[in-house]
Amino acid sequence: PRRVVVLISGSGSNLQALLDAQEHDELGGDIIAVISNKADAYGLERAREAGVIAEVVDPARFRHFHDERDRDLYDAELIRIIDHHQPDLVVLAGFMRILSKAFVLRYHGRLLNIHPSLLPEYRGLHTHQRALEEGATLHGASVHFVTEELDGGPIVVQAAVPVEADDDESTLAERVLTREHLIYPMTVRWFLDGRLQLADKGPTLDGHPLPASGLR
Ligand code: GAR
Repeated sequence: PRRVVVLISGSGSNLQALLDAQEHDELGGDIIAVISNKADAYGLERAREAGVIAEVVDPARFRHFHDERDRDLYDAELIRIIDHHQPDLVVLAGFMRILSKAFVLRYHGRLLNIHPSLLPEYRGLHTHQRALEEGATLHGASVHFVTEELDGGPIVVQAAVPVEADDDESTLAERVLTREHLIYPMTVRWFLDGRLQLADKGPTLDGHPLPASGLR
């Protein structure tokens, strides 16, 4: 079976959606390991509960130079641990660290991320808050291949949700998350089934180009 490593930093609800899909033979492969940069990430418990190896790579171990060299050292260790598991796909599921060029290049075409906005809107952090502040009426989530450009890699799937008049950050985040839990397992399955590829001109599904951005 195809092998998946999932990187998390927190709650791991997207990880749970992927584990549930695997449990129902709907993922197209096996989650071999879950790696977190935070020791208290609840997602680690979700992994262990599902019988999946759960590992922590603590950035505090790599605070030597206090500059980008620390990131390179950390990412080198991450690569070492990931490669030990020989994954076909690396999935970022709420992994809240910026990855180095070396990392992104190493997993080019087999590194997916989910971001809580309709990219290219609201790259970076606090996406729900910013959507509310700007009075957006449509919001959502995007799955994309990861490239060097932060939250700027080729988009595979987007799911849109309405912003309701009485939304606050948490109600909006919750609505978006329900969609994340649908589109991420779906996308991972496409990839593991060999249907989704990152071609030179962008992502293809069954050999057909995917629109640059889904539902906008
Ligand atoms: C999700 O909303 C995910 O899209 C977002 O973090 C949340 C993680 O939730 N990711 C990012 O913001 C990446 N920059 P989860 O831990 O419950 O899956």
